[in-house]
Amino acid sequence: MSDTVIRVEHLSKKYIIAHQQKKKGSNQTLRELITDGVKSFSSKLLKPTKENSLNPDREEFWALNDVSFEIKQGDRVGIIGRNGAGKSTLLKILSRITEPTNGRIVIKGRVASLLEVGTGFHGELTGRENIYLNGAILGMSKAEIKRKFDEIVAFAEVEKFLDTPVKRYSSGMYVRLAFAVAAHLEPEILIVDEVLAVGDAQFQKKCLGRMEKVAEEGKTVIFVSHQMAAISNLCSSCIMLKSGKLAFHGNTQYAIKRYLEVDHQNQQEPEKELINFRPSWAKPLITSVRVLDSDNRENSSFPLGADITFEMTFNSGNYPKLKTPVMGVVIHHELFGTLTGVNTRMTGFETNGKYYNSATMLCRVKHIPLLQGNYTVDIWLGDGAIDIDTLTGYLSFRIEGTDIYGTGRTPFSNMGVIFLEPKWQIISES
Ligand SMILES: Nc1ncnc2c1ncn2[C@@H]1O[C@H](COP(=O)(O)OP(=O)(O)O)[C@@H](O)[C@H]1O
Ligand SMILES: [Mg+2]
Repeated sequence: MSDTVIRVEHLSKKYIIAHQQKKKGSNQTLRELITDGVKSFSSKLLKPTKENSLNPDREEFWALNDVSFEIKQGDRVGIIGRNGAGKSTLLKILSRITEPTNGRIVIKGRVASLLEVGTGFHGELTGRENIYLNGAILGMSKAEIKRKFDEIVAFAEVEKFLDTPVKRYSSGMYVRLAFAVAAHLEPEILIVDEVLAVGDAQFQKKCLGRMEKVAEEGKTVIFVSHQMAAISNLCSSCIMLKSGKLAFHGNTQYAIKRYLEVDHQNQQEPEKELINFRPSWAKPLITSVRVLDSDNRENSSFPLGADITFEMTFNSGNYPKLKTPVMGVVIHHELFGTLTGVNTRMTGFETNGKYYNSATMLCRVKHIPLLQGNYTVDIWLGDGAIDIDTLTGYLSFRIEGTDIYGTGRTPFSNMGVIFLEPKWQIISES
């Protein structure tokens, strides 16, 4: 392959979605077992599942579909695409966390990866033990790891917590350590998934600097981000994925232009990172929130009286699974402030009593009673009565004035925010 270090040929990944059940088992690699944690592993041993063999509700889903490309030594490749495009799946296959369904990959060199929070580290082990475990997985000797140890700890700023199990780390600490490990254990190929979405701005800068340094040393860097500024600064070329397919591979600036034009029409600006919309107490479990129209398509502009759906996806990642996930929605008007709020608990919606690792929850509102104007929405995630996460002001939508009454007149726009659909009567006349 000359200077080609990664060759991806007709790569496809099929997921079987088995009714709220994350299918695992045959394809699970050793690393997956390690990173899954002792708890879930032992519960699996204790409770063998019967459902899988005879489940009629299995649905096939292609997260990656016939993707081929080559990456050369020293390339700095950005991978962009909307949520669900298949970016993380691709990185997991390249990191050998997951097996492809079809196609193959050929990789020359030692890969270190920093994937989504929740993979790569063993929650029960301390920071120190995880550094050694990851080094060992990378094929390094104890002496080699030891040489890098202080550098990793200093970069991650976790000296005080080295002997604490990483499950007790805040998400910021966790990511700092995970990044430091991946970026310092001298991989030949460094794979980083959305690390900039977590952690503070200063650390993000530090990570980017470190990735640049790794690239300057002639190593190959593969980097997923929604921050086009970061992609633009770091990447020498870009791969754009769209619904599991390779939509573009080439010039970074051109890829970014296409991504913004084609994929982000009427959408949130890419700079809008979730992290900027959460308070400091929040555990970053909500991975995506969207406003959908009656065709279940993401939308931000609706006619009066439209049916609107608020969608929230969470993933408990490295945190304990949620027993009773509660979704809350609060709507604000740009001038009038907070208008209303509602949640699954108050309205008597019951989850099924399982422990949820991840889920997408919908709040469907029929004929939303709002006049034309601009609204923002807070989405809240709880576990029973406990606050877990919230994104305040990230989502927004607009109601357009329309001739909803069929009279050629739109409702007043200077009459507050509540939209009424009255029935008029004259009951006494003379
Ligand atoms: N373990 C899984 N089981 C079922 N579906 C999955 C699994 N992992 C990812 N998916 C689905 O595959 C698609 C691609 O996911 P992902 O690679 O995480 O996208 P991205 O990182 O681009 O947002 C999504 O629709 C996601 O819901
Ligand atoms: Mg992803």
